[in-house]
Amino acid sequence: MSETNEIKMPDQLLHRLGVNDTGFLQRVYSDGLDKYKKHLTRIGFVGKERILDAGCGFGQWTLAMAQTSKQAIGMDINSERVAVALQLASINDFKNVEFRQATLEDVPYPEETFDAIFCYSVVYLTDYRKVFREFFRILKKEGDLYICTNGPGWYLYNIIAGPNPSIDFRPRRYGLQTFWNTLIGKRSELSPRTGARVMTPAGTKRALDKSGFEVAALGAEGTLAIGDNQTLSPSPNYSATYMGLVNVFEVIARKL
Ligand SMILES: C[S@@+](CC[C@H](N)C(=O)[O-])C[C@H]1O[C@@H](n2cnc3c(N)ncnc32)[C@H](O)[C@@H]1O
Repeated sequence: MSETNEIKMPDQLLHRLGVNDTGFLQRVYSDGLDKYKKHLTRIGFVGKERILDAGCGFGQWTLAMAQTSKQAIGMDINSERVAVALQLASINDFKNVEFRQATLEDVPYPEETFDAIFCYSVVYLTDYRKVFREFFRILKKEGDLYICTNGPGWYLYNIIAGPNPSIDFRPRRYGLQTFWNTLIGKRSELSPRTGARVMTPAGTKRALDKSGFEVAALGAEGTLAIGDNQTLSPSPNYSATYMGLVNVFEVIARKL
């Protein structure tokens, strides 16, 4: 099993992507895998038999999972991102990892396939109630689910501060469109171009409860810890609130 922190990334991988994706790929691998492994350890998502990285993007969390669990599977709707993740796994000699292109609303795995599902910064782009039902179906009994998603503060921050703009991503427009999508109840064709959906801690908990999950912990991104790991210091990437509104938050739940 590869134990490397730094991931080798040949230049030709970057050349095939758009401006926004190139920046995203460079940012997510810039500090290596150790910070992802620390996060996975703090929330108790290590030492699993088979763990799913749902909406894996370029696969940095999946590779960190491959170093801390027996088998890691990354799944994303975006075939270009899946292709890059596959190449990174191969170039960096990861053996116990798979990547697959698929949508979270209709996961191509049978019931009770995974003992844990990790889903970072994805469900706000999906029909999340449907996705939670799919997660429930493919998790084993007493399997664990981790969700990190965005509250209204994140979109207000995008509108006011406009972080990471590029020729193919306009954060201010994205923030405004997201508030609009939420107002009109849009649940499909969400994307960085068309806007996401605002989620709230209470609404997310309600939807998880309804799908059969028991929520074990809920808090600001990077702050939750399970069992003995509560002694590990939190390492949030975002502030808990922005202008008084809930920003990025995380949830740990269990299939009863
Ligand atoms: C902000 S990125 C996060 C990626 C990765 N989890 C990370 O932390 O870097 C959101 C990802 O969700 C994927 N995505 C959006 N809708 C999806 C869906 N319905 N099914 C699967 N993946 C989806 C996108 O293609 C994108 O890679």
